[in-house]
Amino acid sequence: MSMRSEYCGLVTEKLLGKLVSLCGWVHRRRDHGGVIFIDLRDREGLVQVVCNPDRPDMFKIAEGVRHEFCIRVVGMVLARPENALNSHITNGQIEVLCHELTVLNASITPPIKLDDENLSENARLMHRVLDLRRPQMQHNLRLRYHVAMESRKYLDKHGFIDIETPILTKSTPEGARDYLVPSRVNAGMFFALPQSPQLFKQLLMIANFDRYYQITRCFRDEDLRSDRQPEFTQIDCETSFLDEREIRDLFEAMIRHVFKKTINIMLVNPFPVMSHAEALRRFGSDKPDLRVRLEFTELTDVMRDVNLKVFSIPANMKDGRVAALCVPRGAELTRRDIDSYTNFVSIYGAKGLAWITVNKVAKGRDGLQGPIVKNLHDTCINAVLERTAAQNGDIIFFSAGRSKVVNDSLSALRLKIGHSEFGRAVGLSEEGWKPLWIIDFPMFEYDNEVNRWVSAHHPFTSPKDEYLEYLEVNPGHCLARAYDMVLNGQEIGGGSVRIHREDVQSRVFRAMKISAEEARTKFGFFLDALQYGAPPHGGIAFGLDRIVTIMAGADSIRDVIAFPKTQRAQCLLTQAPSRVDKSQLHNLHIRHQNAEPESA
Ligand code: AMO
Repeated sequence: MSMRSEYCGLVTEKLLGKLVSLCGWVHRRRDHGGVIFIDLRDREGLVQVVCNPDRPDMFKIAEGVRHEFCIRVVGMVLARPENALNSHITNGQIEVLCHELTVLNASITPPIKLDDENLSENARLMHRVLDLRRPQMQHNLRLRYHVAMESRKYLDKHGFIDIETPILTKSTPEGARDYLVPSRVNAGMFFALPQSPQLFKQLLMIANFDRYYQITRCFRDEDLRSDRQPEFTQIDCETSFLDEREIRDLFEAMIRHVFKKTINIMLVNPFPVMSHAEALRRFGSDKPDLRVRLEFTELTDVMRDVNLKVFSIPANMKDGRVAALCVPRGAELTRRDIDSYTNFVSIYGAKGLAWITVNKVAKGRDGLQGPIVKNLHDTCINAVLERTAAQNGDIIFFSAGRSKVVNDSLSALRLKIGHSEFGRAVGLSEEGWKPLWIIDFPMFEYDNEVNRWVSAHHPFTSPKDEYLEYLEVNPGHCLARAYDMVLNGQEIGGGSVRIHREDVQSRVFRAMKISAEEARTKFGFFLDALQYGAPPHGGIAFGLDRIVTIMAGADSIRDVIAFPKTQRAQCLLTQAPSRVDKSQLHNLHIRHQNAEPESA
């Protein structure tokens, strides 16, 4: 008999009466005084193995096995007795009566319990090999594989070919800090790890590859959050001779294909499309979670002359905003809830959170309650009630300040309330999948630190034709041919139609006050290539890790990456990054901070 005839998780009633040989790890072992039960685990799942003392040699071995021993079992598939059926697992109707048991390799006592639901993430990352044995992690990584595979199938069918681009390269322009690699043979010089293959994929379009893709690692030294990793994977795509509408259609269909094939979900067709300005106006976010029904109400215009400085000052500021969030049945929230929301919005820089509860809307201001009612004149009160369409029993939250603070704080509150137990109970949010496109992004954002306009996406994004004339005179007014795909409040992909003419590219650099020399030093190779009849082209990159995180319903991106880094960009398994020998530093022409000064 071969070492393994079946996978444990695939032994079902179909094999009743058959002799099978199984290999796997001891998930659980229960000694029921005279009979030993072993739950044997392999990549397909668990099966129950029964060891009876009537085979003393085998039984003796069974007495000695412990958690995570790697064992082989030869046995007969039998129906479980009536009282031992388990309908929760696929093979809960059968068990394997053990004839022969071999310990292939013992295990020391595992430092973590694999079925402990409350393991700390640090413990899981330190003992990642054991953690990865857990069924949930097995599921997540397989799902990840299927998502990548279905993307490849779709792209292949649509004429895309996979081309690798360099990992040791020059700084690329995605706006994060670079990871640098010192060159030994070129003293004092550094490679940068790619933040994305952006320029290479554009070069491939110029080089007539027409349709490129790559499932590739990108490296960004940025502040980490639960949806970010310093090295992450993009499904990176580029195509020539399609406009933004055609590109969006092509990749929307890819995502629909992937969801159908991997988790059997039919996403809406077509995805809704919303301008960046509309998304900010209605949801305060460029990645709105449409599962939550709440929307902002714009009040800046009616708050300009109210007798409440915290409202009137921002309402009169150039980049100020006053907006409200009307929460149906919010009058049921307790004072404690409201206080906790006030604390919550302060994380986003909001100085406070004003509120009004609506007791009797028909009575106008007399039907309202809350500390600010007296400061708002009648026109304002009427506008608030009309625009929010508030009903009896609602609460209206107000946020005022710089637009960014209002948007960040009130959009976070929108999600917090929408997804809370209260929000779900009163129908403020729904389960499911809500994709959409955000389009018409601004070309530039003003960066106060460097005192100039910087690209909102990256500097190779094309402006919309009708804004070309404003490039140098009013960069803040220009819209880009860029698009993001958003799913359930997360940006899962982003791309654009690119600039394919060298003269437009130079004007965009000028708008950002990047001198011709600087552009040449950084991107000379690319600007040169643009001059050889570069075709109109564009593309998109999807965050594979993020897509799988959402699909798997995982809390963190780290749950869908085999060997991820912590929030501090460390690998707890290998203890990377780590110090290196002085001699290595010397070879790389790097002086060690604590090294002795070199003698003359
Ligand atoms: P962008 O920077 O928007 O575009 O990245 C594309 C997608 O990659 C994912 N992503 C990340 N995932 C995990 N950790 C990170 N640190 C991280 N950063 C980004 C997001 C995002 O939507 N070159 C352009 C694409 C293009 O224009 O074609 C680019 O990289 O899901």
